[in-house]
Amino acid sequence: MEEDRLEIVGPQRMCGELLVQGSKNAALPMLAAMLLAEGVYILHHCPQITDVDHMLELLMDAGCLVHREGHMLIVDTRGAERCRLSGSGAGKMRAGVTLLGSMLGRMHEVEIPYPGGCTIGRRPIDLHLKGLEQLGAVFEHREHALAGYAKDLRGADIVLDFPSVGATENILLAATLAKGRTVIHGAAREPEITSLAGFLRKMGAHIEGEGTAEIRVEGVERLHAAEYIVPSDRIVAGTYLLGAVMTGGEVRLLHVPTQHLGVLPRILAQLGAEIALWEEQDEISLKMERRIHPIPYLATAPFPDFPTDLQSALMAALAMASGPSFLEEKIFEARFQVVPELRKMGARIYEEDSLAVIEGEARLRGAQVEARELRGGAALIMAALAAEGKTVLGGMEFVKRGYEDIQGDLKKLGIVLH
Ligand code: EPZ
Repeated sequence: MEEDRLEIVGPQRMCGELLVQGSKNAALPMLAAMLLAEGVYILHHCPQITDVDHMLELLMDAGCLVHREGHMLIVDTRGAERCRLSGSGAGKMRAGVTLLGSMLGRMHEVEIPYPGGCTIGRRPIDLHLKGLEQLGAVFEHREHALAGYAKDLRGADIVLDFPSVGATENILLAATLAKGRTVIHGAAREPEITSLAGFLRKMGAHIEGEGTAEIRVEGVERLHAAEYIVPSDRIVAGTYLLGAVMTGGEVRLLHVPTQHLGVLPRILAQLGAEIALWEEQDEISLKMERRIHPIPYLATAPFPDFPTDLQSALMAALAMASGPSFLEEKIFEARFQVVPELRKMGARIYEEDSLAVIEGEARLRGAQVEARELRGGAALIMAALAAEGKTVLGGMEFVKRGYEDIQGDLKKLGIVLH
């Protein structure tokens, strides 16, 4: 099978145990944070995904040395002097934008190629820039790049109009080295903010309130390198749990901080699954022995409500439900890219603006389908497991942005791949 295509013959039941990979969205801001202080950092359980590769390109662009041994990553930032980054990585993914906060924090100057938008939406960064400007940064919009300067950063009271994950991360990064106290009101509460704050605290930052809507930071003179374990990826875990629901399977996922799952266990139970959570062991198990129940209405929302990153996988599951469901996508303006591809597999889904009506009762069948973005691609793979016949999925390069080894994971969950 060619590199960027995946072939699955269904239907198959997902059955087995899996240790879930490290979190893409937790690891990326931690890599950005490394530019806040010179030293040698070690990250464990770091996922081997292309978005991490692109972020490491940017760090090397800045002058860092990078060494990888499996899931362990060593980054030496003692040579990181360059603040004008032209790396191809930034254009390819969103997370490069968090370099603004960390580079302004230590180097007081930064220039990055404009962060790539993507098919799920425009991805503006106005909240990032407004927050950093309140800390004293000045930005200049160049032809294809964004330049920022901050002679010295001063703490401020910042109110976010929307609990943007990236804006919260950028402001938090810069505030750790700003003079005085910063309070972020209306901050994002996602687990990725909590893990970033934990990493920054190990680096010597003074942070309180992460995981709530009000984060308080006391700026310090300098930070130092640290060693940290990246938490497992809650979205990868949720993807496989929804795959188990679709295939009538029985799975146990290990090394998953259950408090990172928010409302997901409740939604999985609403679909008809039997769920068990083991908080102390960071494990969750799921068993699905009945038809999928429809969900009358569900909207995506910031943590701890239902995550937009699992909306496509939930849609695929609801296509098989015993009645109609309604999903509203309230975070991104173009996150129904997967609908035409699911229709090719027999799903009856109609979308209008931010609302999708999923008729249910579909008997999914294998088809030639195309991943157009990361999470839609993963949803199509889950659908292919439940579908009758062969599915050939193109666009696996999108899936590899966030799923380290989805074929290997599926094999551990009892799936036979050709
Ligand atoms: C992060 O993106 C994640 N990416 C996304 O995951 C995730 O879907 C999103 O948070 C929401 O949870 C990373 O962590 C690398 P936002 P981010 O800022 O930070 C608008 C995946 O598949 N907005 O919370 O970009 C924005 O347009 C990816 O892993 C502004 O208007 O998300 C969007 O509608 C996809 N102005 C909404 O807020 C801003 O300055 C949420 O964006 C910033 C955001």
